[in-house]
Amino acid sequence: MTARFDFSGKNALVTGAGKGIGRDIVKDLWQAGAKVTAVSRTQSDLDSLQAEYPGINIVKADLGKWKETQTALTKCHDIDLVVNNAGVFRPSTVLESTEDAVDGNFDINVKGLINVTQVLAKKMVERKKGKCFSISNIIQDIFYVTISVNSCCSIKKSTMHYKYFNYLNKTGTNVFTISTTI
Ligand SMILES: NC(=O)c1ccc[n+]([C@@H]2O[C@H](COP(=O)([O-])OP(=O)(O)OC[C@H]3O[C@@H](n4cnc5c(N)ncnc54)[C@H](OP(=O)(O)O)[C@@H]3O)[C@@H](O)[C@H]2O)c1
Repeated sequence: MTARFDFSGKNALVTGAGKGIGRDIVKDLWQAGAKVTAVSRTQSDLDSLQAEYPGINIVKADLGKWKETQTALTKCHDIDLVVNNAGVFRPSTVLESTEDAVDGNFDINVKGLINVTQVLAKKMVERKKGKCFSISNIIQDIFYVTISVNSCCSIKKSTMHYKYFNYLNKTGTNVFTISTTI
C-alpha cells in the first residue's frame, strides 16, 4: 500500500513497538519514510521488527523500570515524533484490585508515560520542536460499568497529556492524545 503521509527526514520513536498497535505504527511510519526507533521489552520482537523493516533502530527497555528506561532513551537523539503507545490492560475493579494489579497498571500506563516524556520532551523543548502522541483508552467506562483501575490510569494518562499540552505547547512542542477503545 502507498503511504498516505511523508515522514521522510523525520525521526520517530514508538514505545510498546513489539506487538499490536505499536508494531503497526512502526510499520506505517517506516513505510512513510520516517527513521523509526522501536522501543519494547522483548528482544525477539525487536529482532523480527528489524528484519522486517531494514534500517530501524531498536531499543530494549522495560518502561516499568525508571532508571533502565532513562538510560536507554537518553541515547536517542533528535526525535521529532514520539508515540507513547506502550500500555497494559489488566482489568480489575477499584473495589477488588490488589496492590500488585494497581502497581502493574500504574507503573507502565502512568509512570512509564511520565518517564518517557521527561527524557524525550525535554530534548524537544531544547530544540523548540517535536510532537508527542499518547495512545489511551479513556472511554472504556462507557462499556465497563464498574470503574476499573486500568481506566483510572488511562484517564490520568489523558489528563496528564492535556497538562503537558498546555505547558509544552508554549515551547514549540505539541502534545496529542488518541483515545482508542474496545
Ligand atoms: N488493543 C485494544 O483494543 C486497545 C484498546 C484501547 C486502548 N489500547 C491501548 O493501545 C496501546 C497498545 O495496545 P495493544 O493492544 O496494541 O497492546 P499489546 O498488543 O499488548 O502490545 C503492547 C506492546 O507494549 C509492550 N510493553 C508492554 N509493557 C511494556 C513495558 N513495561 N516496557 C516496554 N514495552 C512494554 C509489549 O511488549 P511485551 O509483549 O514484551 O510485554 C507489546 O509489545 C496500549 O496503550 C493500550 O492501552 C488498546
